[in-house]
Amino acid sequence: MATLLLLPGDGIGPEVCAEVRRVAAALTPDLKVEEALYGGASYDTHSTPLTDEVRDQALASDAVLMGAVGGPKWADAPRHLRPEAGLLNLRKAMDVFANLRPAYCFEALAGASSLKPELVSGLDIMFVRELVGGVYFGQPRGIEDLADGQKKGFDTQVYTTSEIERVGRVAFELARGRTNKVHSAEKSNVMESGLLWKQVITELHAREYPDVQLEHILADNCAMQLVRAPKQFDVIVTDNLFGDILSDAAAMLTGSLGMLPSAALGAPGKPGLYEPIHGSAPDIAGKGLANPLAAILSFEMALRWSLKQTQAADALLAAVKAALDNGARTRDLGGSLTTAQMGDAVLAAL
Ligand code: NAD
Ligand code: IPM
Ligand code: MN
Repeated sequence: MATLLLLPGDGIGPEVCAEVRRVAAALTPDLKVEEALYGGASYDTHSTPLTDEVRDQALASDAVLMGAVGGPKWADAPRHLRPEAGLLNLRKAMDVFANLRPAYCFEALAGASSLKPELVSGLDIMFVRELVGGVYFGQPRGIEDLADGQKKGFDTQVYTTSEIERVGRVAFELARGRTNKVHSAEKSNVMESGLLWKQVITELHAREYPDVQLEHILADNCAMQLVRAPKQFDVIVTDNLFGDILSDAAAMLTGSLGMLPSAALGAPGKPGLYEPIHGSAPDIAGKGLANPLAAILSFEMALRWSLKQTQAADALLAAVKAALDNGARTRDLGGSLTTAQMGDAVLAAL
């Protein structure tokens, strides 16, 4: 029996994960769903956002699905013990280097985007965000005192050839199953790591993927093009930091940040880490206002990519589409359904 580890976390995390639990119970009753403390909820109990036990439980699962972590309550915790550090440590421990973030516009939501419907109708972008390297993990980093009484804060952006190649390969492979086009976004005009990124992607493309159309794009221009003419993109491969920012921007093309799921994948056969791309949304937590679809669609990705239950994944995707076609909308989508009522709508369509 396959095992899914649920890590609800903080803020709206437990609210959206509760809907995933209901969907899983109805759709995949044989799936063993375990649950553990994570993020701020774990810090409050165990003084760490990720215990060794939960890390090992994650590594032993077939897939891990998290809600969200973080919030103002933990703003003063030491950095290495903040909820977000638990998330970064889990990604690193699972070595899930390729973060697939699909920005797909459901037809019923074309009018919910902040962009004109004709710009987003039919939109289907796949971000491939490098997830376990770059400035998120580079050393040295810190805040130091300077002799003149000032402080100096610094981080290191660093990528090696193999780190770029392995995420590039995922992007090219995905493109072959789509419209065969990859944009690689970096800042090779100002950053050494960006220059290496461009060189490695260029060589990988020439060597192994000459059949795929490759375009290099500077990350700032990519941000602009995403809101000017987003349908020009198919697969976008980029680093950890640019991928974080560009995918949040792309979320609004689909109607709401509450719509975007993600799949973080490592080596074949290893468990994937599935997470909505939104955060713990402290401003709406505890009010039943959160849109659970990003979490439910993250479960759909887990079914597809880790649990190999394609039929169940197809059924769930169709149910979400049907619920939206029937007019189901949480507040972020301009409606008035609660989190649980949106879950009801998906379950009814299932
Ligand atoms: P956020 O994504 O939590 O919220 C941004 C805005 O989007 C808020 O107005 C929020 O209400 C809205 N929103 C987000 N998800 C929604 C949903 N499902 N339905 C309806 N509205 C939704 O980003 P933030 O406010 O910058 O960060 C809050 C905390 O979350 C921080 O501590 C941050 O570090 C953390 N965070 C965690 C993750 C994660 O766990 N994967 C991701 C992003 C941010
Ligand atoms: C995300 C989040 C995380 C990130 C934070 C909470 C560490 O913003 O998953 O998009 O920056 O990767
Ligand atoms: Mn983010």
